[in-house]
Amino acid sequence: MRIDILTLFPTMFFSALQESILKRAQQQGLLTLVIHPIRDYALDRHQLTDDIPYGGGEGMILKPEPIFRAVRSILGTTPAPVILLTPQGRPLQHTVVEELAQHPRLLLICGHYEGVDERVRQHVVTDEISIGDYVLTGGELAAMVVVDAVARFIPGVLGAAEGAYNDSFAAGLLEGPQYTRPPVFAGWEVPDILRAGNHALIARWKRTMALQRTLERRPDLLEKAALTSEDEDMLKQFHRTLGEPNVME
Ligand code: ADE
Repeated sequence: MRIDILTLFPTMFFSALQESILKRAQQQGLLTLVIHPIRDYALDRHQLTDDIPYGGGEGMILKPEPIFRAVRSILGTTPAPVILLTPQGRPLQHTVVEELAQHPRLLLICGHYEGVDERVRQHVVTDEISIGDYVLTGGELAAMVVVDAVARFIPGVLGAAEGAYNDSFAAGLLEGPQYTRPPVFAGWEVPDILRAGNHALIARWKRTMALQRTLERRPDLLEKAALTSEDEDMLKQFHRTLGEPNVME
């Protein structure tokens, strides 16, 4: 997969995308990231990328010409989603990440200052994404979040092939608790069931914990989750015991 990123601040990306799993993915040729400074596509002598807003108002607006030139030059006639990172976009969720990961190419545009000329939105951008209901100083951190989340779905990027599909949200549930050695730390024990090695019981325990955690923290997710009748029974049992001592521990 190839992701091009159009930004006023290219150096912000250098260390964040060159570590750990993303570094390995690029070394293995599974992911290609190309950072393009918007300034390189500015037409005028002063390489202006922003200007004052028509009609007055605060701040500066990103000019359309450098962005149009950049997108044309980067994509040519290759069809690919052109995504503007903006708090006005559709919320980034697990399903959106999976959908984006199906494309061989993406082009991300990092908005900045007070905004982007509306003609960019209307005539070159095909999708707008927000990473949450808060305003960042620019789209760069949001673009990094998109790259990181999408990369996990490229086959081969995660160690265990199925990793991304088993994580929190994949089945519409939060993941339950996880443990590693030592078996007893400061007097706190790893649950016996995880140490006993009965895989069927462990799977059932993990499912129970995932359901319980989702019910406690994100009950809204349960409405859309794919639940079996056994899950439904389990949830009914939790509901009955809610407010009483936790029967699962
Ligand atoms: N740019 C500024 N705030 C943002 C947000 N919440 N999501 C995506 N891009 C942004």
